[in-house]
Amino acid sequence: MSLLKNNPTETQAWQKLKKHFYEIQFVKMQELFAQNPNRIREFNIRWNDFLIDFSKNRITAETINLLIELAEETGLKTGIDALVNGEIINETENRKVLHTDLRTSKDKQTDDVAAALKQMQHFCESIINGTLKGSTGKAFTDVINIGIGGSDLGPKLVTEALADYKNHLNVHYISNIDNDSIQCLKKKLQAETTLVIIVSKSFTTLETISNADIFKEWLLQNNLKTSYHLVAVSSNIAEAVNYGVEQQNIFPMWDYVGGRYSLWSTVGLSTALSIGFDRFEELLHGAHQMDEHFINTPFKQNIPVILALLSVWYNNFFCFETEAVIPYVDKLKMLPAYLQQVVMESNGKNTDRQGNPVNYETGTIVWGEVGTNSQHAFFQLFHQGTKMIPTDFIGFVNPYFPSDLHDLLMANFFAQTEALMNGKEGNYHHTDEDTDKNAKYKEFKGNRPSNTILIDKLTPKSLGSLLAMYEHKTFVQGFIWNIYSFDQFGVEYGKVLANNIKAELKEKHIKQHDCSTSFLLNYYLKNKNA
Ligand code: F6P
Repeated sequence: MSLLKNNPTETQAWQKLKKHFYEIQFVKMQELFAQNPNRIREFNIRWNDFLIDFSKNRITAETINLLIELAEETGLKTGIDALVNGEIINETENRKVLHTDLRTSKDKQTDDVAAALKQMQHFCESIINGTLKGSTGKAFTDVINIGIGGSDLGPKLVTEALADYKNHLNVHYISNIDNDSIQCLKKKLQAETTLVIIVSKSFTTLETISNADIFKEWLLQNNLKTSYHLVAVSSNIAEAVNYGVEQQNIFPMWDYVGGRYSLWSTVGLSTALSIGFDRFEELLHGAHQMDEHFINTPFKQNIPVILALLSVWYNNFFCFETEAVIPYVDKLKMLPAYLQQVVMESNGKNTDRQGNPVNYETGTIVWGEVGTNSQHAFFQLFHQGTKMIPTDFIGFVNPYFPSDLHDLLMANFFAQTEALMNGKEGNYHHTDEDTDKNAKYKEFKGNRPSNTILIDKLTPKSLGSLLAMYEHKTFVQGFIWNIYSFDQFGVEYGKVLANNIKAELKEKHIKQHDCSTSFLLNYYLKNKNA
């Protein structure tokens, strides 16, 4: 069964939401809090070690009811069932979408997934305990993950986020085709104790293969056998073999797992090497628990569904274009970049599931940076700018190393959501002349929405749940917007053009382009040194 194809704007719920929006668009959250001192009780979800406070949003009970009506009228439940039951919901690529299968309980694992996890486990244990060595007989000290997009962002994020669980192996990530950074990394490493993992679902990605060439050459120049040092993760086994990776060094992945949803698969090999396979399984378990929550919980208490609906509310009714994600822990610095791919590659689409151009907004723009750093950079615009930016604040009750400093960090975390909601209006009309003169500059009106996602501790399990939460939020939005969230034809077209231009630069012969591109290419060729 394919996904239902309902234009959301033609539902009754959408019309009701439109009317409701006109009624409450200027209502201030401050008033809603004043009217109902128990507002938090209505708008929070507690689940496992997560507390989601969504009371600081421009919503009433009716808003949530209507948004849930929208989810029901568009058939979201059938969409969730189709996703987890392995229907071909990636219709434009004729594929199932089964990243949830990668993290399901052991008794439900498919043979493919179970075998790949076993292969990963054995490999990780042998590398970590030093029984599997490089070709000169020395144990590995370093691992390089060469990949881009989903073959880089997820594994890199998780490896960094779980740095407290790291063993002696140092894992490095190479994604961009930036020779300067590659040379820098090579200088730091000993080839004979380095394992190189090429991660590419397609095994044709220009950046990844070009970078892999450099490291393969490096191994050979150091008289090392690639059969000991070179490993691949791919669904294109034939191409990986063709490239010179030994069959037993290839870890399979499957076309039913999208690149940006693949960190749970063998694509997570570098992470599993860094934290050990048991911890990697805890990550999968955390994600699985979020899957169960998503599948089984009524929409009103369903974290990904509520977060997605709030985002639809702001995107399609208030017309706020961007959302921020601010994690209050340095280890999640990569989270905004990771989410940019998950959210924007999935939902940056303008054709609906019937093949028509959409006549409403779809994919949101996601961005962010860690707190408190971001407070000293762009929060001024959050507080007093002309744009509204609904923001997810993510914080942890318990740090890995308890200290008073954590209270200070969290004091900032709580203070920001309070300030954004309450603002500070009319408090400067005092007697002091100078203060009065500047009063209007010092006012900020508040009424700026945020979600607070407070988690007990950053562990493999809670991280798994957090990332799965955002995956499902993205799915719900794409479903409601009636678009296909699991293809990415736009970026694929860019890959084709880059390959053509690469050939032209090599031949020093620029073919027919628009006058701007031709001008730039010729200028580049003329001015480059070698
Ligand atoms: O950017 C486009 C894309 O296809 C992503 O979806 C994917 O994660 C990335 O390129 C890398 O692709 P591959 O794993 O096939 O090298």
